[in-house]
Amino acid sequence: MQAKSGVDMSEKNTAVIVMAAGFGTRFKSKRSKLLHELSGKPLIRYIADTLAELSPAQVVFVLSHQKEEIKSVIGENDIFSFAEQKVLDGTGGAVRAAMPALKNDIKRVVIIPGDTPVIPLSLIADMCNASGKAMLVAAELDDPAGYGRVIINRDGSVKAIVEETDLDDDRRLVPLVNTSIYAFERKILEDGLKKIQKNSQKGEYYLTDIVAICNKEGIRFDCVRHDEPAEVLGPNNRLQLSDLARLVWHSRAEILMEEYGVTIIDPYTVYIDEKAEIASDVEIYPNVFIEGGSRIEEDVKILENCRIVNSRIAKGSVIGPNVFIADSDIGTNNKIGPFTYVRPKTVTSDGVKIGAYVETKNIQVGKGTKIPHLSYVGDASVGEKTNIGCGVITCNYDGVKKHKTTIGSNVFVGSDSQLIAPVTINDGAYVAAGSAVTHDVEKDDLAIARARQVNKSGMAARLRKKLCAE
Ligand code: UD1
Ligand code: MG
Repeated sequence: MQAKSGVDMSEKNTAVIVMAAGFGTRFKSKRSKLLHELSGKPLIRYIADTLAELSPAQVVFVLSHQKEEIKSVIGENDIFSFAEQKVLDGTGGAVRAAMPALKNDIKRVVIIPGDTPVIPLSLIADMCNASGKAMLVAAELDDPAGYGRVIINRDGSVKAIVEETDLDDDRRLVPLVNTSIYAFERKILEDGLKKIQKNSQKGEYYLTDIVAICNKEGIRFDCVRHDEPAEVLGPNNRLQLSDLARLVWHSRAEILMEEYGVTIIDPYTVYIDEKAEIASDVEIYPNVFIEGGSRIEEDVKILENCRIVNSRIAKGSVIGPNVFIADSDIGTNNKIGPFTYVRPKTVTSDGVKIGAYVETKNIQVGKGTKIPHLSYVGDASVGEKTNIGCGVITCNYDGVKKHKTTIGSNVFVGSDSQLIAPVTINDGAYVAAGSAVTHDVEKDDLAIARARQVNKSGMAARLRKKLCAE
């Protein structure tokens, strides 16, 4: 069978076991480490996506802590199954818990840790297809502290793995560390698991002890060295998570620049989620977040300090600086910003301007309409070529319910007016500045809804004189 990845998975009938039951204690979090996000995606979802693409014969996720949430993040797939590790008794215990779930025809088992998100698909494929009876992936680190050290025999095979807590001073300096990525012939794994003893210091069954067990039995344990440690060693704390995130964000920005023709002024300060689509000739300034399934079309310019969540920005629009747009659809050649808050269900047509200190929500805006300054426009539809003056407010909420404001095309709403919904301003109408509009305005009418001005001759001077005398 040819997998989706194009890797041939036919021969070995391999299952992959994902160890994902641990607490991730060093994250100091009430949420499982596996649910923490790396560049917009939970850690465990990376492995699930890679394995879905690789498509081995079977994948068994070993879960315990927050298992229902983790299961729902992993999602469904015909090859996925789940096993529960009832007592968290170490990595040996995790693999033991998975074994009864293996199908009868499985001949080879690859084991990977669920907390190592960016293991390359090709490496897992190589482990699935290799012929070694028992093998592990190791990486060399400048600072190996915290990881199990890999001790090598003269012939290059693995002699043992020594965990940090069991190290003597000489071995502390060994730079080669265990990544917890292994492959075994099924029978060898089954036999080895039976022989692992509880570690006296931590009271856990260490999967790593299987190396010494194999050596004793005369089974060669191969070492596969991987020279990109960041790809095979998962983050153990939040500092390591942020280092890894920087790598992932940056490599995504690099791909966008090199393969998709996107200009990114400072790729170290731009954060683009995996699901977001960015077209060619988009220009992105520093400090920009583009999240969820956002789609940024050709020739869009996103100026500094913008956050765009689950939104489409159509061709040629300029966004920013300092704009937040969520769950909205911005049309072609719009100008949004600076300092604009575009809330969900804002839908604009071509050539719309929404300017400084404007907040919008649930509105449809027609072609060429302008809302340039200091307004709140919510639960409204606005026609074409309408001008909404500075400081206009759609008063959509009566304290209990929300009401709709309908504004036609070629309307002029004077500054500082309040449109008290439900209300309709028909095509071509004028609303005089400072009006509080409570009744519909007919087509081409002028509404003035404010007290008439009275000027009292010399009254200011007389008043001042009186006040000063008191
Ligand atoms: C383990 C290895 C260490 C290696 C390191 C690489 C052991 C004893 N040590 O240490 O040699 O250098 O990984 O990252 O194996 N898990 C379970 N059930 C458990 C315990 C852990 O499913 O009872 C899962 C965790 O969710 C995690 C993986 O196994 O995904 C590794 O566990 P972790 O606690 O991170 O092991 P380390 O101490 O890092
Ligand atoms: Mg770990």
